Amino acid sequence: MSTTLNDWVKNKTVAPENNPVLQGNFAPVTQELDIEELEVIGDLPKALNGTLLRNGPNPVEPNEQHHWFSGEGMLHALRINNGKVERYRNRWVRSPSIEQSKGFTAAPGCEPELMIQGSGGVSVVSHGGRVLALGELGYPFEMTTELDTKGQYNFAGALQGNMTAHPKIDGVTGEMIFFGYDVLPPFLRYHEADSAGSLTNSVEINLPRSVMMHDFGATATRVIFMDMPVVTNLELIADGVQLPFEWDDNHRARLGIMSRGSTTDTVKWIDADPCYVFHPLNSYDDGDKIVMDVVRYEKLFTNEKSGDFNKGSQLVRWTIDVAAGLIDTHVLSDRNQEFPRINPRFECHPHRYGYVIAADGALGFEGLLKHDLKVGTTQYHDVGNNHAAGEPVFVPSSEKDSAAEDEGYILSVVYDATSHTSELHVLDAQNFAGPALAIVKLGTRVPYGFHGNFIPA
Ligand SMILES: [Fe+2]
Repeated sequence: MSTTLNDWVKNKTVAPENNPVLQGNFAPVTQELDIEELEVIGDLPKALNGTLLRNGPNPVEPNEQHHWFSGEGMLHALRINNGKVERYRNRWVRSPSIEQSKGFTAAPGCEPELMIQGSGGVSVVSHGGRVLALGELGYPFEMTTELDTKGQYNFAGALQGNMTAHPKIDGVTGEMIFFGYDVLPPFLRYHEADSAGSLTNSVEINLPRSVMMHDFGATATRVIFMDMPVVTNLELIADGVQLPFEWDDNHRARLGIMSRGSTTDTVKWIDADPCYVFHPLNSYDDGDKIVMDVVRYEKLFTNEKSGDFNKGSQLVRWTIDVAAGLIDTHVLSDRNQEFPRINPRFECHPHRYGYVIAADGALGFEGLLKHDLKVGTTQYHDVGNNHAAGEPVFVPSSEKDSAAEDEGYILSVVYDATSHTSELHVLDAQNFAGPALAIVKLGTRVPYGFHGNFIPA
């Protein structure tokens, strides 16, 4: 089975037994579980107090066009207290879709009639005292760390339109800035919430057409929108394609720079080389310029059934000269990689380190990488033979401002293909290539999902 990211993003119609994103650890799980007796190898750090939450699509009834990006959201929670793991739990997000397919009662909704229904199945963040399960489209679902769905959340009625799964929480101010894109005008909206979680600013932004805008960049003073050639084509749905996105060579690639705090559509658009980016690592101001590190693909969503669908991913640095309207591109690492994360204290501010999944090997997620972008070196962490790594979530081990950027732990939910179960691997980020500090055997499987975060107790 080929399991490169390139394969996953192809839109294919295949029988479920031949669909690579329904096999192995892509296969959804069928039960909601609570497991309290968990084997731990090694020692969990006593500084880890809280709950690791992970999210991903877990379709109840996948159809023959099933795509990895689709399906009802399921959260996985691992509660750790003072060096002891207390419980693993998984729950579907109680969306209207899960009520229909599984019979669970949907949590209270607040979406207007014409809004696309979200599944809350891409990521999960904690902000302003709320835990939000986020999807690509629709409103978020407010959750508890016990994984009860409280209901859809629209910032007390203030949020118009969709919310991205990739808000940025400023590591210094605690503000949450985000956007939502849509298949109908206005195609883009920008939002800011203060550190307490109140929505304080929303701006409608004009785009020539709807594009798939999965993520964006944010610095201490500015945001960066990526208007790339993966465009929305609703006719694809009629053709049986589950995701209505396709590469369009005629769509001009641009980055849009806007000041944080702007209350009007004052975006400066700068032409860029065509490419696609799901995930930036981080962005920061460097004088008037912007440094934005991203995992870049040359081309995606071409809907070709075979051939050079794309050229794989690279970690690149865009240095954006906003005044001159120029973007310099420098390859930082040319091996296939995805799911970039940093120490959250440095979000929107200058970073030195980046942590990613190495997206190669027989299982597609062979290990983890730590990039030192100051020195230009990369360390590899081997998660084990016939194991596959999950997104590396960084948890700072010290609250002190003087703490080193890499002072903390990497939490990765790892799949053991031999036992067909999952494990939590906890690494010392400063001894990245060394053995894991602790491995928690979950005794069940967490399907390959997307994003998670550690919510301190
Ligand atoms: Fe994502």
